[in-house]
Amino acid sequence: MKSFRGCRFDAGAALAIALFFISLHVRSAIAAQESKPADAPAGNAENGKRIFTKNGCYECHGREGQGSNMTGPRIAPDPVPLDVLTRYVRKPTGEMPPYTDKVVSDQELADIYAFLQSRPHPPAAKNNPLLK
Ligand code: HEC
Repeated sequence: MKSFRGCRFDAGAALAIALFFISLHVRSAIAAQESKPADAPAGNAENGKRIFTKNGCYECHGREGQGSNMTGPRIAPDPVPLDVLTRYVRKPTGEMPPYTDKVVSDQELADIYAFLQSRPHPPAAKNNPLLK
């Protein structure tokens, strides 16, 4: 970093990246608190992964639920709460096709939900080499 201008640019970029990761963290912390209604069926992440693949969710949302600009949004590792997910899968309002409970049961959706929740988070901002 020789020039002052170069230095300011780096700091600005680093701040933007830091704010981005902080906002992700806050969002996931809120989602984690809100997403566990007492009567939710317990999900089996391994079976969820199988159903997620078998029913083609991965074709639009990616094998890790990471999403893609072209096909479907990111839905892991912090999916919307299970009741919201179930409602959306049964009656989507956009491009996504609907799935009745004959195709994917409520229990299978709970399994998918457990799978999505089990996906690893990206590394924390403090471990990001770009910020060192
Ligand atoms: C043909 C592509 C496609 C497939 C297959 C698909 N989705 Fe989607 N999904 C989308 C798109 C696109 C959206 C964004 C909203 C919209 O346009 O419907 C979405 C939205 C969602 C949302 C709402 C996300 C949010 O933040 O509100 C959930 C949850 C979801 N999908 C779960 C699933 C599950 C579970 C499956 C498999 C049973 C699945 N999707 C299969 C394309 C797909």
